[in-house]
Amino acid sequence: MTLRTILIHPDPRLKKVAKAVPDLSDDLRVLADDMLETMYDAPGIGLAAPQLGILQRLIVLDCVKEEGAAPRPTIMFNPEIIAASDDLNTYEEGCLSIPEQYADVTRPAEVTARWIDRDGNEQTQDFGGLWATCVQHEIDHLQGKLFIDYLKPLKRQMITRKMVKLKRELARE
Ligand code: NI
Repeated sequence: MTLRTILIHPDPRLKKVAKAVPDLSDDLRVLADDMLETMYDAPGIGLAAPQLGILQRLIVLDCVKEEGAAPRPTIMFNPEIIAASDDLNTYEEGCLSIPEQYADVTRPAEVTARWIDRDGNEQTQDFGGLWATCVQHEIDHLQGKLFIDYLKPLKRQMITRKMVKLKRELARE
């Protein structure tokens, strides 16, 4: 497996709508496995293919937080939210493409997602808690939407300026 480079906001590729994955291929499975490895290494709890500059509808996540609990690496091709609760939940979100910036985002507390798994089988599952937030955040990436898009313009601009500065610093290294 290979660690891939995660794009940092602002980047035009993070604002694009990703294309549906047609038939699963070994290349796509390798990409999904690389994404999981890259996510764990970061470390993070979710990653979407557009964050690697790959505009395909593929996300990975593992929101198991309890120490010592078994990991639950989850690969979703063409994920969709097919139902969402009226109940809302607010989490302090972050993003591997927006390092070290966190802000409260309010989203449906429970969602039902449908996707194609690594073996090509359709899956449907209900998610709550952090998993619900994470799956919505990652699917947003496939629509070119970042968590900072939910914030007030001033706060978003402040974070974006910090990221521009960070990218300048990283480019100099
Ligand atoms: Ni993100």
